[in-house]
This record gives sequence, structure tokens and C-alpha cells, in this order.
Amino acid sequence: MKKIPFIDLAAQQAHLQPEIDARMQQVLAHGQYIMGPEVGELEQALSDFVGGGVTVGVSSGTDALLMALLALGIGRGDAVFVPTFTFTATAEVVLLLGAVPVFVDVCEDSCTLDPEDLRRQIAQVAQSGTLCPKAVIAVDLYGLPADYPRLRAITDAHGLRLIGDGAQSLSASCHGRQVGRLADLTATSFFPAKPLGCFGDGGAIFTEDQALAETLRSIRAHGKGAGKYDIVRVGVNGRLDTLQAAVLLAKLPALRVEQSRREALSRRYDAALAGLARPPARPEGYISAWAQYTLQTPARERLQRQLTDAGIPTQIYYPRPMHLQPAYRAYGGGEGSLPIAERLSQTVLSLPMHPYMPEDVADYICDHLSQMASALAEG
Ligand SMILES: Cc1ncc(COP(=O)(O)O)c(C=O)c1O
Repeated sequence: MKKIPFIDLAAQQAHLQPEIDARMQQVLAHGQYIMGPEVGELEQALSDFVGGGVTVGVSSGTDALLMALLALGIGRGDAVFVPTFTFTATAEVVLLLGAVPVFVDVCEDSCTLDPEDLRRQIAQVAQSGTLCPKAVIAVDLYGLPADYPRLRAITDAHGLRLIGDGAQSLSASCHGRQVGRLADLTATSFFPAKPLGCFGDGGAIFTEDQALAETLRSIRAHGKGAGKYDIVRVGVNGRLDTLQAAVLLAKLPALRVEQSRREALSRRYDAALAGLARPPARPEGYISAWAQYTLQTPARERLQRQLTDAGIPTQIYYPRPMHLQPAYRAYGGGEGSLPIAERLSQTVLSLPMHPYMPEDVADYICDHLSQMASALAEG
């Protein structure tokens, strides 16, 4: 068996090579590397993909989050509620703007923001009276949308804005509504390993609000107004490169089929894992983008070692929650304060997941998992 990759970008590239080459050649021919026609074309294609709204292409998923907060006017003295079990970008952007991240625990099954803990954290901030609660960032971890219906009820009741961190979840949906249309603003990432990845950094922001979209277009271009040198607000250089938009235009038509292949692989893993580890949650009415397939087991170290010995790569997303990171400790309650996330950081393990995994590789991994499950059952 050849070396098994955790994510096989080369296989996808080989599959879509003619479309990608043709799109890239078009950009080289017209030479509009900054804000060329492909950026607008991609934005329209993404809005069509998620079923409506406006899309603003930007420079990365992190910048998408930063610009979403900037567009909402979030800054010094504001509190933004974020799950502690996430990638660092979700918390980092809040602090970059001088606001304070309030870390919230996650649900054990879905690994996404826990609405009950969110309620508690909002009440605590309101009681302390030192910060102004402004927004919640829900993270669709591993590609599974957060519990948007319950989160929306809470944000509406408290007058907060709801931002989706959909960096891992483009192509997922919740009760028939696509990621991109579940929050006031949704940020996504086109980092190469994401469900829709480009050949470098890229991202997008989705919204239904035309005025917010206009503000975001201004922010991504240094805060420009009607003219290029008419600066009406503080902005950033947050544009999506034309070449990256071209790559994404070539890849987007394959995304639905790729999601269904990921879904099929996830079901095979579920079956193979029975009795060995806890499979990922499949909440009723939700479709995951399956950016990652992440199991839970208290025997993670042993399982990971056995898989490594069999040549099966694994990853841990994430080994330490944000409230225990040295850079953010000052904003959290320390060890034991958000126990579910702390436990998950010790028990989660992600298996190889990509849409072009050859059958024989999937068979090999699943056979190994089944054998390990049988061995465990026999004691
Ligand atoms: C949950 C989450 N948020 C934000 C980001 C940031 O995206 P990017 O790497 O495009 O800046 C990532 C990417 O790794 C992510 O997984």
C-alpha cells in the first residue's frame, strides 16, 4: 500500500486539471490580477451555490472574520462570544480589534457552541457590566453547522449579531438552508485543505444585507468610498486574488459531488468504528461538509499509535482549547472552567478525509478499524 495521505489535494487537482488550467490561462491572458472579472463571477456563483444573498470575496478566512467584525463596528469595550474549541483565528480577530473574546463551552456530541453555556456567559457579562455584549461567532466545526436555530433565538433575545465561522463548512446545511445563509454574516475560508480550497489563501463573506455587503467591499479595499482615493473608513487590503478566484471557479462545480463522496466515506467509517470509538454526531436535519471526520475516544493515544503503525495518518483538531492557550489565558477562567472542550481536546481524533480517496485505501482503513474493534470486543 502506497503512503496514505491525510488529505489528497493532488488527486483532486489531477481530476480537475483541464478546467483549472483553462481558467488560469484566461487570467494570464487578460492580466487583471487584482479584482479581475473572475472575482465578481465567483461571487455570483457562490451566492447561487448557497441559494441567495450577496458574497464578497476576500483574502482569507481570518480576514473574512476580521472584516465581518469591522463591518459591524465592533471594537474596544465590546464582548464577542466565541466557542473555546476552535481554530485560533476565531478568537484572534476579536482581540485585534480591541474587543474581548468571551469563551463559551461546546456540546459534547456536536462539538459546536453550546446554547445553554452561551446563555450563562451572556448573563455573566451583563451582570458584570464592564463590557458591551455585541456578537456571537458560531463555528461549524469539522464541517457540521452549529445549532443556528437555538443560537438565533438567543442572539435575537439579547440584541446580538450572529456571525457564522463557516471556514470548514461550505456545502453544509441546516434544515435545508445552506451555510452562508444561516447567520447575519458568514465567513468562509478557501485555504487549500478546506472543502472548497484554492492554491493559496482566500476567503469569502456571505450576507443577505446589501448595505453590509457594500461596507465590506469598502473595507476590503482600504475603506474606499466612491473613488479609489476617497477613504471613508478604516479598512484593510483584504481582496481575493483574481488567480485564486479562477481556481475556485474551476473547482466549485465539483463541490456537491465531492460533498456526497465525503458523506459516503463518513458512513463507511461509522460502520467500521462500531464499538471502537464514538463517531461524529449526525443531528436530524443537518448535512455536514465533512471537512474532517472526527471520532472521540478516551483511548486516543493508543488508537492513534496503532493507526500510525498501520500507515494510517491522523490529526488532532484541536489539542488545546482557546481559553487555555498562553495568548488568551487572560480572557478565560482557566483549567476546569469549560470542561467539555477541555475533555474533547484529549479525546478527538480525525481520520483521513477527502473526496478522491481510492476504494482500496478506504477498504484498507475500514478493515483496520473493524479489526481493532473486534480485538477490543474480544478483550
Ligand atoms: C474554524 C476556522 N476559522 C477560521 C479559519 C481561518 O481561515 P484562513 O486559514 O483562511 O485564514 C480556519 C482555517 O483554518 C478555521 O478552521
